[in-house]
Parts: sequence; C-alpha cells; structure tokens
Amino acid sequence: MRRVDNSIHRSFDRLVAQGDAPMWVVTTLAGGVRAGCLVGFGAQVGIEPRRFLVCLSKNNYTYEVAERATHLAVHLLGEDGLALAQLFGAETGAEIDKFEHCEWRPGPHRLPILAAASAWLTGKILQRIDFGDHVGYLLSPTAAETPGDGPSLRFHSVANLPPGQPADPVETN
Ligand SMILES: Cc1cc2nc3c(=O)[nH]c(=O)nc-3n(C[C@H](O)[C@H](O)[C@H](O)COP(=O)(O)O)c2cc1C
Repeated sequence: MRRVDNSIHRSFDRLVAQGDAPMWVVTTLAGGVRAGCLVGFGAQVGIEPRRFLVCLSKNNYTYEVAERATHLAVHLLGEDGLALAQLFGAETGAEIDKFEHCEWRPGPHRLPILAAASAWLTGKILQRIDFGDHVGYLLSPTAAETPGDGPSLRFHSVANLPPGQPADPVETN
C-alpha cells in the first residue's frame, strides 16, 4: 500500500516539475516587522472579481508575520533573479534580515517592494485557508505593476535550491 502511495507521489512530483511554474517572492509587513520568502504555490484563482492565491508553509518565518498582516506583496522575478531567489528561498528571516541584503522600497500598504522584480502585485488578504502544511492567502489585488517584460524565473531554475526552512509538515500532537 505504502509503495503505491510513494509511486503516486513520484509521478505527481514529476508532473508538477514538468509544469515548470513561475516562482514568486511574497513579502509582507506586520507590527513593523518585514518578512518574505520564495513561493512556488501561487496562482490566479478568479477573473471577476480578480483573485490570487499564495500558499505559505507553516514552518516559515514569513508565515508567522503573514498571520498578523492585512496585505501581501507578490513579485515575479526575471530569469536573472537567481540571487534574489536564493536570498528569499534558501535563507530564513528567523536568522537574517533579508531586506538588508537587497534593494527595496516601501510600496502600497508600506509593503516591501523589491527593486529587481520584473512585476509585482499587492493584495488585501480576504481569507486564510488551512491546507495542512501550508496556509492559502486569498488576495484581492490593490495594485499591480509590470516594469519588466522578459521571461520569468521558473521552477526548473531553482529546483535544487535547499529551502531555508524544512518543507516537512509541522509536528502536531
Ligand atoms: C523551489 C522552491 C519553492 C518553494 N515554494 C514555497 C511555497 O510555495 N511556499 C512557502 O511557504 N515556501 C516555499 N519555499 C520555501 C521557502 O521559500 C524557504 O523555506 C524560505 O527560506 C523561508 O524563508 P522564511 O523562513 O524567511 O519565511 C520554496 C522553496 C523553494 C526552493
């Protein structure tokens, strides 16, 4: 039985990798504290009204801050954005201040907007949905800009990046 489950996981993971999703950097601010991490789980989920969903791991520092936040910023990186992806995906805000290591400015809702982003949106958090090891944040867009128009950084470029926080489920008793 377990072998069947594992083989489904392997096929599922291959399928998702083949989809080669764009990678996002989600930033947020609550109580004067900034946080942000690399996110693969992000997508538009509504047309009228426009809605965007991003999912944060309960293990992440960004999740801790986002739980107290009212808004999130969601950035796309260009194909040259690997260093920024490394900063936000392989380091944790529990140990370093990522915003001391990149260029950013306060944007709508005072959210940190990354200077190197090729596109970004800000959104009001309408709903939090518990998916188990991740929480989905349903966003209503409040602003969006697309300063770059080249190809975006995608999963295949960061597939081997070691995440700054373990991806395993949070221990629950
Ligand atoms: C390819 C890749 C995809 C990732 N996707 C997500 C994701 O969808 N959601 C998430 O919360 N973390 C995701 N992570 C993990 C976080 O970006 C990473 O653990 C980060 O260091 C957490 O930083 P923080 O503790 O400052 O929040 C991903 C990491 C990588 C390398």
